[in-house]
Amino acid sequence: MTKIRAAITAVGHYVPETVLTNADMEKIVETNDEWIKSRTGISERRILTNGEPMSFMAVEAIKMLLERRKITADDIDLILVGTVTPDMLFPSTACVIQEKIGASKAWGFDVLAACSGFIFTLVAGMQFIESGMYKKVLVVGADKMSTITNFKDRNTCVLFGDGAGCVLLEPSEDPNMGIMDTIMHVDGKGGKYLNMLGGGSLNPSSHETIDKDWHYVYQEGKHVFKDAVKGMADVSHDIMVANGLKSDDISYLVPHQANMRILTACADRMGLPQEKVMVNIHKYGNTTAATIPLCLSEYWADGKIKKGDNLILSSFGAGYTWGAIWLKWAY
Ligand code: UT7
Repeated sequence: MTKIRAAITAVGHYVPETVLTNADMEKIVETNDEWIKSRTGISERRILTNGEPMSFMAVEAIKMLLERRKITADDIDLILVGTVTPDMLFPSTACVIQEKIGASKAWGFDVLAACSGFIFTLVAGMQFIESGMYKKVLVVGADKMSTITNFKDRNTCVLFGDGAGCVLLEPSEDPNMGIMDTIMHVDGKGGKYLNMLGGGSLNPSSHETIDKDWHYVYQEGKHVFKDAVKGMADVSHDIMVANGLKSDDISYLVPHQANMRILTACADRMGLPQEKVMVNIHKYGNTTAATIPLCLSEYWADGKIKKGDNLILSSFGAGYTWGAIWLKWAY
């Protein structure tokens, strides 16, 4: 029997209108445009200021996707959401989104893999297509990082932004296109370097957790940087080797956007020129689970991705979580 392969058949995204430039950040913390640009590649980021939660951005991204694919929410079988900023701890934001878009027959759940949230969620969604269980799986990567960013900590507050992206997975019409291979990893030993300690069952929210800033992202940047460069470059290279892919075969690396220097190190290791690396960090910063689907949606809309293109999606984030996906663009 021919294998059913899962393919991305539509993309969508949303970013808030409010722009926070590096000059704006200079008014908030002791920092400067030159430091932020040279150390991270970020010039500005978007912040959701209308009081709406993360699901607002996810729903806007989904509306774009449904419109582009010319289907309705009733056609969706399953909604999977990668995020570290759910609207609330429970119910899941998948449930919130299901109600907001009116997806009458869909069920769904959230996936927590931080900056690897989108690729982990994509691999989860892929299973439901490959097994033959479902025909239309919505995979969302969205984060409202401004709600867990400490705007008094210059080490982290310049890095993050808000945004949402989503893709639709369907059985590929051509079994030689779609998601071809995946390599995924976790290593819990990395947990101490990048986390948010408060609000869970270990440290339930209290005056003490608030006083200690445990409701914000904590990161030992230098340590994570070193591990991210190695983890992301290794796994991106490993998936090429495992599938006999040469750098000329690859149309794009679609990397998680944490730091421009990590993207460059990854591309160098894969033997790819800079123009084959999808980049949006300069205008959106690190939008956590949204960085990769945001790239896909904008590059597709600009006509830069073509049917048959080989893409390597790759990410590294809190957990640690990391991995790479090879896919052949199917539409
Ligand atoms: O997305 C999930 C995974 N996350 C990542 O992959 C992030 C990985 N880490 C990074 O991207 C980088 O480590 C950062 C961008 C966070 C920091 O860059 P760095 O080159 O590692 O800088 P650093 O943390 O070693 O700091 C160097 C200096 C320090 O000053 P001293 O101690 O040398 O005097 C910092 O205090 O830069 C200072 N600094 C700043 N200066 C101006 C830190 N943040 C800022 C700032 N503006 N915003």
